[in-house]
Amino acid sequence: MIVLKSDDEIKKMAESCRIVAEVLEGIKGNVSPGIATKEIDAYAESFILSKGAKPAFKGYRGYPASVCASINEQVVHGIPSLTKLREGDIISLDIGVYYKGFYGDAAVTLPIGKISERAEKLLTVTKKALQAGIENAVIGKRLSDISSAIQTRSESEGFSVVRNFVGHGIGRELHEEPQIPNFGRPGEGPELMEGMTLAIEPMVNAGGWEVIILKDGWTAVTKDRSLSAHFEHTVAITKDGQNVLTKL
Ligand code: MF3
Ligand code: CO
Repeated sequence: MIVLKSDDEIKKMAESCRIVAEVLEGIKGNVSPGIATKEIDAYAESFILSKGAKPAFKGYRGYPASVCASINEQVVHGIPSLTKLREGDIISLDIGVYYKGFYGDAAVTLPIGKISERAEKLLTVTKKALQAGIENAVIGKRLSDISSAIQTRSESEGFSVVRNFVGHGIGRELHEEPQIPNFGRPGEGPELMEGMTLAIEPMVNAGGWEVIILKDGWTAVTKDRSLSAHFEHTVAITKDGQNVLTKL
């Protein structure tokens, strides 16, 4: 069942989403070569706690950290570690926050220093794919219009979209219905309605779409070890258009 939110509930969600946006903004200004992903996790966690909020991922199905930090060929769910970022890496940072009864969820992929042209292109295209998905999150369209826009935008540049992970509804739960695949034909699935709150999150690979999970049980990497990028926003569908709640 898709849970529709009232304007009042969306206002509350905006508060948890704002904390997510602030953490990501804080990290953006501070990542550089030599920083360990565990340090990013510690920064994010203390920021979230200082706002009286809770990190949404920590303890979720046993996930051990507040942030997912996925470097280069890692697609999603990389566990923060003592691994230090190096010039030329790309790192996806995915953050969830729980505040006053509601969840917020967003991700960005950041360049570390100077990165290759191909990596640069992958980041640009994945960000544009998210934007294309968000543009389709309007009353009267269908759910798969979002999916299809993301796929088309990504594949038109020769990249591929990951099939094994999806975006999702979000609200009083981190994962609500509907699932939002990043591929599909347009015009299918539920009609988009006022009050839907969606975490839209394209994961785009420079090579093939297949992923495998490492032995830690979490880290997803591209099967061909090609680079992967991930951008995510929590978006509310309103009568006045889409409200991107995790945007500062
Ligand atoms: N943005 C991802 C999601 O919504 C992150 C989940 S990580 C987990 O599904 F650790 F919480 F599983
Ligand atoms: Co998500």
